[in-house]
Amino acid sequence: MNFLSLIEQKREGKILARDQIQEFIREFTAGKIPDYQMAAMLMAIYFRGLETAETTALTLAMRDSGDVLKFPKDTRPLVDKHSTGGIGDKVSLPLAPLLACLGFRVPMISGRGLGITGGTLDKLDSIPGFKTLLPAGRITEIVQKVGCVICGQTDRMVPADKKLYALRDVTGTVPSIELITASILSKKLAESLDALVLDVKFGRAAFMQTKTDARKLAKAMVALGNKCGMNTRAILTDMNTPLGHAAGNWLEVKESVACLESCSSRRKEALTEKSEIGNRKSEIRMSLLTSAATTDDLRQLILDCAAHLLVQTGKARSLATARKLAGDCLNSGAPRRKWDEMLVAQGADLKAFNRKLALDSTAAATLDLKADRSGFVSRCDAQIIGETIRDLGGGRLTKESAINFDVGVDGLAKPGEAVKAGDRLVRIHAATPAAARSAAARLKSAFEISSSRPRPADLVAEIITP
Ligand code: URA
Repeated sequence: MNFLSLIEQKREGKILARDQIQEFIREFTAGKIPDYQMAAMLMAIYFRGLETAETTALTLAMRDSGDVLKFPKDTRPLVDKHSTGGIGDKVSLPLAPLLACLGFRVPMISGRGLGITGGTLDKLDSIPGFKTLLPAGRITEIVQKVGCVICGQTDRMVPADKKLYALRDVTGTVPSIELITASILSKKLAESLDALVLDVKFGRAAFMQTKTDARKLAKAMVALGNKCGMNTRAILTDMNTPLGHAAGNWLEVKESVACLESCSSRRKEALTEKSEIGNRKSEIRMSLLTSAATTDDLRQLILDCAAHLLVQTGKARSLATARKLAGDCLNSGAPRRKWDEMLVAQGADLKAFNRKLALDSTAAATLDLKADRSGFVSRCDAQIIGETIRDLGGGRLTKESAINFDVGVDGLAKPGEAVKAGDRLVRIHAATPAAARSAAARLKSAFEISSSRPRPADLVAEIITP
């Protein structure tokens, strides 16, 4: 093929045909197009954009560059959620077992964190023995048997995206709506999903900083997902404040378990009574204490994602009914048991996991940052918190960086919360006391306290349907 002429066509803003796109993706995946030429094509696409038909052709060609997961016929729809990433965003962890308990199959193929936003696979790597790299056959086996799996992309899935993304990363061509759409949806289409809900974040710690940009991306992905036969919706959610009360790999796993254990007050009382006589006394008490601290925003987002998928697949008529269904299911405790089942299927050592859960902190040093005045928290800046955690060792500066799973923050005071002078604003978990002190100094600027209670921003700002 004459790839140079295709680059020139795109440079002039001309439309590429489906078979031309299919061919260059095939050739590039096979190593027959040099990176410098593909880099030029990516830059031409970045400036000239792609028509919907071109983005569709690109997405499908990328999906077909490798293995597509195949599942046996089943009454349980195949669903997933994708988030564009944020601080403290651990929704995938409790959501997968909840969806499995709601009668879905969930082949959740997730990614790693880069920069300040966390990655689901990094969080799961903090669980003793848990395997995130599974062959395609094992992924489908676990999905069929357990109902959910959370793992990484195999080497043979969407190889075109791996190569293209690496090139975009070093050529300044990541922020193109069409390229992002093709990259995300090719991977989701390779899961053979019936329905997908996208959580597109906006704000200081989000990939898309403004709501307008997030809406543009969400609309493009919703349109294309549906065009490719996958029922797709998006929600736009606020990422100026971290989600939940904890951020950092292991601390987020801990908060996810707490959320799975956050039951109705009646169930809580029953569990407490049981804990008085049971020999798991301290374990249960500890998890209840953490559940009491689980914020409504995390639970709300989990239930919202589940509710959309229930509506999208016809399992519920309205979002209100669906939320109730999802909430009752979460309260039943079944998703907490499903979580353990998923962990065992993916090789985790449950005893070691439970021992780790019972620890107050797994980091070498902890330090509280305290409020210097009384009032109401009016800012809890996700960007500063994310940067601080990354520099504590909890995130990556380059793809090769090793990460420390134990560092992070918990007990975050969120906007709207009343605090007294001397109350804790956040607890820092660090590798050394000096690192904890330096993080505390930095985190001071993440918080603002005002004398009147601010109106908290809506977590879900918009719903984008086809
Ligand atoms: N996440 C992806 O998987 N691809 C992109 O292009 C951007 C974010």
